[in-house]
Amino acid sequence: MTLVVMGATGKLGRVAVRSLIDRGIAPNEIVAVGRNESALQELADQGTTVARVDYSDTEGLRRALDGATAALLISGNEMGVRVEQHRNVIEASVAAGVGNLVYTSVPNARETSLFLAPDHKVTEEIIEKSGISATILRNNFYAEGFQADFTRARDTGLLANSAGEGRVATAPRAEFAEAAAVALAGREWDGKIYELGGDHAWTYAEFAATAAEVLGKPVRYQNLSPEQEAAAAHDAGVDEAIARRISVRNAGIREGAVDRITDDLSTLLGRPTTTLASTMRTWV
Ligand SMILES: NC(=O)c1ccc[n+]([C@@H]2O[C@H](COP(=O)([O-])OP(=O)(O)OC[C@H]3O[C@@H](n4cnc5c(N)ncnc54)[C@H](OP(=O)(O)O)[C@@H]3O)[C@@H](O)[C@H]2O)c1
Repeated sequence: MTLVVMGATGKLGRVAVRSLIDRGIAPNEIVAVGRNESALQELADQGTTVARVDYSDTEGLRRALDGATAALLISGNEMGVRVEQHRNVIEASVAAGVGNLVYTSVPNARETSLFLAPDHKVTEEIIEKSGISATILRNNFYAEGFQADFTRARDTGLLANSAGEGRVATAPRAEFAEAAAVALAGREWDGKIYELGGDHAWTYAEFAATAAEVLGKPVRYQNLSPEQEAAAAHDAGVDEAIARRISVRNAGIREGAVDRITDDLSTLLGRPTTTLASTMRTWV
């Protein structure tokens, strides 16, 4: 068996490789693909085969993917070019005879208005058209993306944004990584689409209440209009690109793009997902 992990040098990928090994996959059956030399060295030190390949390197991809039982494509992080990068990986996977391609997408990728979705929608369509057997893991937001809010709650006792009453079904990044390892290693998940997220979808009012409980101090949530949110970010001197990212993320939450609860993640993990309160306790 050969299992290829592309994006193995990133935060999700490193945990996915670790999870494969923890699940009993022999390290020499894992091919870890990435570019970062020191991260690749760490993966080699765990006994995996490593391949330093950029997604633009068609030949390198074909070599790394050759005859793989299954391969995991962790969506890239270079906005504007990643669809073409994904296309290269998909075409190389077909040419290399990969048995099943696992791809990390976003919730409800084909229909959602979520800001991040267009690249994922197109990638899912390219995968479908290619005819390759594929497993689509539509990951909800990583809980870690909300750690800054927890820190703000601790420092100021106030959370103010435009997410309103919207809900988000976060789970720790490591659990999405573990689910990816499970889907990569077992053939029973092949050819299916999974909507992965936490077992509970929380509102910011609940986030504030949970933070208050964990911190042992009052935390208040204040709902802002998108305009008030933009003005507050401007007044606080928040970098424009960061303010924009936060505002579109909050729009996704407010508009219900990430509120769906399924048991897909807990099914892949074989246990309930970690609660927000437990995750917050690791941030104290
Ligand atoms: N659901 C969420 O809340 C959420 C949040 C953030 C991101 N994401 C998505 O999930 C993905 C994984 O998250 P992460 O935290 O693991 O991100 P990350 O730490 O930035 O890892 C990205 C990985 O992609 C690899 N990569 C990017 N461009 C590449 C290229 N041109 N050629 C080869 N490898 C390339 C990187 O390789 P090198 O480091 O070796 O260059 C790295 O291994 C992100 O890329 C993003 O699409 C989701």
